[in-house]
Amino acid sequence: MRIFQLLLVSLFSATIEAKLLTDPTKIRNDYDFVVIGAGTAGNVIANRLTENPQWKVLVVEAGIRQVLTTTNTSTDYSNPYHCLSNANIPLVSTPFFGPQASPNKPWTWNYTTTPQTALNNRTLSYQRGKLLGGSSSINFLLFTRGSSDYWDTIANYSGDPGWSWKSIFPYFKKLERLTPPADHHNTTGEFNPAVHGFNGPLSVSLAGFQTEINSHIFNTTIAEPSVFPFNLDCNSGQQLGISWLQATINGSVRSSSATAYLAPQFLARPNLDILIEQQVTKIIFTQSGKAEPHASGIEFAASPTSKRFTVKPSKEVILSGGTIGSTQLLLLSGIGPKSELSSFKIPTVVTNSQVGKDLIDHPALANHFIANTTTSLDLLRENATDLQAAQALYNLTGTGPLVDTTSPAIAFLRVPSNNSIFQQFPDTATGPGAPHYEFLWRDAWASSLPVTPPATGFFTSVVQVVVAPASRGSITLASADPFTFPIIDPAFLTSEFDVLVARFAFKSVRQFMNATSWQGFNLGLAPDSIAETDEEIDAFLRNNTAPIWHPVGTNRIQSKDGKEVGVVDSKLLVNGVTGLRVVDASVFPFIIGGHPQATVYALAERAADLIKEQFA
Ligand SMILES: Cc1cc2nc3c(=O)[nH]c(=O)nc-3n(C[C@H](O)[C@H](O)[C@H](O)COP(=O)(O)OP(=O)(O)OC[C@H]3O[C@@H](n4cnc5c(N)ncnc54)[C@H](O)[C@@H]3O)c2cc1C
Ligand SMILES: *[C@@H]1O[C@H](CO)[C@@H](O)[C@H](O)[C@H]1NC(C)=O
Ligand SMILES: *[C@@H]1O[C@H](CO)[C@@H](O)[C@H](O)[C@H]1NC(C)=O
Ligand SMILES: *[C@@H]1O[C@H](CO)[C@@H](O)[C@H](O)[C@H]1NC(C)=O
Ligand SMILES: *[C@@H]1O[C@H](CO)[C@@H](O)[C@H](O)[C@H]1NC(C)=O
Ligand SMILES: *[C@@H]1O[C@H](CO)[C@@H](O)[C@H](O)[C@H]1NC(C)=O
Ligand SMILES: *[C@@H]1O[C@H](CO)[C@@H](O)[C@H](O)[C@H]1NC(C)=O
Ligand SMILES: *[C@@H]1O[C@H](CO)[C@@H](O)[C@H](O)[C@H]1NC(C)=O
Ligand SMILES: *[C@@H]1O[C@H](CO)[C@@H](O)[C@H](O)[C@H]1NC(C)=O
Ligand SMILES: *[C@@H]1O[C@H](CO)[C@@H](O)[C@H](O)[C@H]1NC(C)=O
Ligand SMILES: *[C@@H]1O[C@H](CO)[C@@H](O)[C@H](O)[C@H]1NC(C)=O
Ligand SMILES: *[C@@H]1O[C@H](CO)[C@@H](O)[C@H](O)[C@H]1NC(C)=O
Ligand SMILES: *[C@@H]1O[C@H](CO)[C@@H](O)[C@H](O)[C@H]1NC(C)=O
Repeated sequence: MRIFQLLLVSLFSATIEAKLLTDPTKIRNDYDFVVIGAGTAGNVIANRLTENPQWKVLVVEAGIRQVLTTTNTSTDYSNPYHCLSNANIPLVSTPFFGPQASPNKPWTWNYTTTPQTALNNRTLSYQRGKLLGGSSSINFLLFTRGSSDYWDTIANYSGDPGWSWKSIFPYFKKLERLTPPADHHNTTGEFNPAVHGFNGPLSVSLAGFQTEINSHIFNTTIAEPSVFPFNLDCNSGQQLGISWLQATINGSVRSSSATAYLAPQFLARPNLDILIEQQVTKIIFTQSGKAEPHASGIEFAASPTSKRFTVKPSKEVILSGGTIGSTQLLLLSGIGPKSELSSFKIPTVVTNSQVGKDLIDHPALANHFIANTTTSLDLLRENATDLQAAQALYNLTGTGPLVDTTSPAIAFLRVPSNNSIFQQFPDTATGPGAPHYEFLWRDAWASSLPVTPPATGFFTSVVQVVVAPASRGSITLASADPFTFPIIDPAFLTSEFDVLVARFAFKSVRQFMNATSWQGFNLGLAPDSIAETDEEIDAFLRNNTAPIWHPVGTNRIQSKDGKEVGVVDSKLLVNGVTGLRVVDASVFPFIIGGHPQATVYALAERAADLIKEQFA
C-alpha cells in the first residue's frame, strides 16, 4: 500500500518540479498578488486567491521545498534540488519525529533568543520553518482552535465581529478534513463530529497508536472530575478540561500547509507560481502627491551577494513571513519605531512604534516521573533495535508508534478565581472559558532543552505550559542587512504573574500524577524534577523553562477605540500605507490559550475572503 503511495508521489513530483521555480528570471511580469512566505498562512492565501482563474499569484519563499516521502535516502540537503524531486526527510514527514524536525536543520531558521533575564540569562534556540509549509512543516502537529472567548475577545477588541467565534467557526470546518486515525480504531467518544469539517484541504486526526498512559490519563478525569474534568472536544469552542489530542496528521504522515494547500491539484493551476530559495529583502513603496505610500512591489535575492530582483503586483502585497520574518521585513522596509529605523539609517516610510513590540510567547516546562513499565516509548530512544523495528513497521504498514506526535491528550486548565494570584494581578485569560495553563503527556522522557536524556529507565513526562502569559517581549533589528537575524527577546517569565501561574501548574501536575488512577504506575519524581518549596520550584522553573515556539503579536491588530495603536487594522491592512496586508501569526493581539497553527489557518482563510471582497 505504501509502495503504491510512494509511486504516486514520484508521479506528482514531476508536476510539482515544474511549478517550483528557483530562477527569478522565469517569473511573469503581470502578477495580481505577491505573497511573501510559503508558510502556514501564505499557502492558504495563495491557494484561495488562485481559485479565481483571472488572478495571477506569485509566492516568494526563502526556504527549500517541502518533502513528501520518496525512495531517495540521500542526505545531501545542501543540494537545492534534493527535496521533493527525490528527497526524503522522515524528520519532516513522520509525526513521531516532529520534535526532531528542528532545531538547526537545513530547513529551519536557526534563531537564538537574547539571554533571558528571568531564566538565569539562558539563551534559547528559537526555531522557525524555512521550507514550503513554513513552521507547519516542522511543528509538533498539535491542532487547537482556542476557546470561543479567545475569538470573541479579538472581535471585541478590534471592533470587527468577523473575528468572533461564531464567524470564524465555519472557517475551522472549511479548512479541515477530519481523517481516521492510523489504527482505524473506533473514535466515538473521543471527539464531537458535529464541530468538525470533513472536506477541507488540511487533514486532522486523533492519535493512531494507543500508548500505555492513555487510560491513566482519562481515568484521572473520572477519579477527579471537579479538578480535571473530561471534555469531549477541546476544539468545540468550550476548551476547558482534558481531551483527546487532535493533530495535523493524514493517516501516518504530517499534513502541513504545503501538503494541504499546495497539493498537486492546486500547484497545477497555471495562475500560481512559487519561487523558492529567494529571500525577500524589502517591500518597495511608491508615493504620489499626498496619497499614502503604496506597496508597489518587493525586492528579493538568493543570498547577500547575489543579484537583487524586483516584482510588482498590480493589486496587493501579502506579507506572510511569520512573526519573526514579517516583523523584520516591515522594519527593513521603513515601517517601525522612528529611532530604531534611524539608528540603522533606514528611510522612514511610516512611523509606527508598535512594530516588533508586545511579542507574546508561551513558557513551557517538562516534569519527569518514573514509570513502572518496561514498554514505554523510551525504548525508541534508548534501544536502536526497537527504533528500527518501529521504523520498519511504519515503512511497511503506516502503523505503530511513529504515526503520532508527542501527546495522546491535552489539558486546558484554569487557576481558580479565588486564588491569591488574582489579588495581585489581573486575569490574563481572554475570558472565563479560556485556560491559564496546559498539560501534555508523553509516554517517555521528553524535554525541549538541549540536555542529554537518561540513557536507561522508563518515564512519563508532563509538559506544562503557561498559556495566558503577562510577559511581553520584542523583536528588533540587529542590522540593516536582511540576512542578519533580528534580535529576539520573548522575555519569558519576566512578569511575576507568569511565575505564579507556572508554580501553580507545577503543583497541579503533581496533583494529577498523584491521582489513584496512576497508583502502581507512577513511581514518583525523576531525580531531575525534584523541587518542593516555592523557592525551589521557582529556581527549577527558571533553570528549565523552554520555548514551545508560539510567538505572536508584534504586528498586532489595533484596538477599535484607537487607544492601543496597532500595526494593522482589523482587515489586516498595514496602517499608513496602501497595498500591503500582513497575514500570519504576528497580527494576533492576544495569544491563543493553546497552540497557534489552527488559528493561523483560520485567520488566513478569513483574510483570503477579505481580499476577495476588496477586489471583487
Ligand atoms: C518547533 C515548533 C513546534 C511547534 N509546535 C506547534 C504545534 O504543535 N501546534 C501548533 O499549533 N503550533 C505549533 N508551532 C507554532 C506554529 O507552527 C506557528 O505558530 C505557525 O506555523 C506560524 O505560521 P505563520 O504563517 O505565521 O509562519 P510560518 O509558518 O513560519 O511561515 C513563514 C514563512 O515565511 C518564510 N519567510 C520568512 N521571511 C521571509 C522572507 N524575508 N522572504 C521569503 N520568505 C520568508 C519562512 O521561510 C516561512 O516559510 C510550533 C512551531 C515550532 C517552530
Ligand atoms: C537522490 O538525490 C541525490 C541528491 O539530490 C541525487 O544526486 C541522486 O541522483 C538521487 N538518487 C536517485 C536514485 O534519485
Ligand atoms: C545555530 O545556532 C547555534 C546557536 O547560536 C550555533 O551554535 C550554530 O552554529 C548555528 N548553526 C548554524 C548552521 O548556523
Ligand atoms: C543576567 O545578566 C545581566 C546583565 O548582564 C546581569 O545584570 C544579571 O545579574 C544576570 N542575571 C543572572 C541571574 O545571572
Ligand atoms: C464581547 O463583548 C460583548 C458585548 O459587549 C460581551 O457581551 C462579551 O462578554 C464580550 N466577550 C468577551 C469574550 O470579552
Ligand atoms: C463505535 O462505538 C460506538 C459506541 O461504542 C458504537 O455505537 C458504534 O457503532 C461503533 N462504530 C463502529 C463503526 O463500530
Ligand atoms: C481505567 O478504568 C477502566 C474502567 O474502570 C479500567 O478497566 C482500566 O483498567 C483503568 N485503567 C487504568 C490504567 O487504571
Ligand atoms: C491523505 O493521504 C492519502 C493517501 O493515504 C491521500 O490519498 C490523500 O490525498 C491525503 N489527503 C490529504 C487531504 O492530504
Ligand atoms: C533492545 O531491544 C531488543 C529487542 O526488543 C532486545 O533484544 C535487546 O536486548 C535490547 N537492547 C538493550 C541494550 O536493551
Ligand atoms: C524506513 O524508511 C526510511 C525512509 O523513508 C529510511 O530512512 C529508513 O531506513 C527505513 N527504515 C527501515 C527500518 O526500513
Ligand atoms: C498525594 O495523595 C496523597 C493521598 O491521597 C496525599 O496525602 C498527598 O498530599 C498527595 N500529594 C500531592 C502532591 O498532591
Ligand atoms: C509495578 O507494577 C506491577 C504490575 O504491573 C506491580 O505488581 C508492582 O507492584 C508495581 N510496582 C510498584 C513499586 O508499584
Ligand atoms: C540550575 O542550573 C545550574 C547550572 O546548570 C545548577 O548549578 C543548579 O543546581 C540548577 N538549579 C536548580 C534548582 O535546578
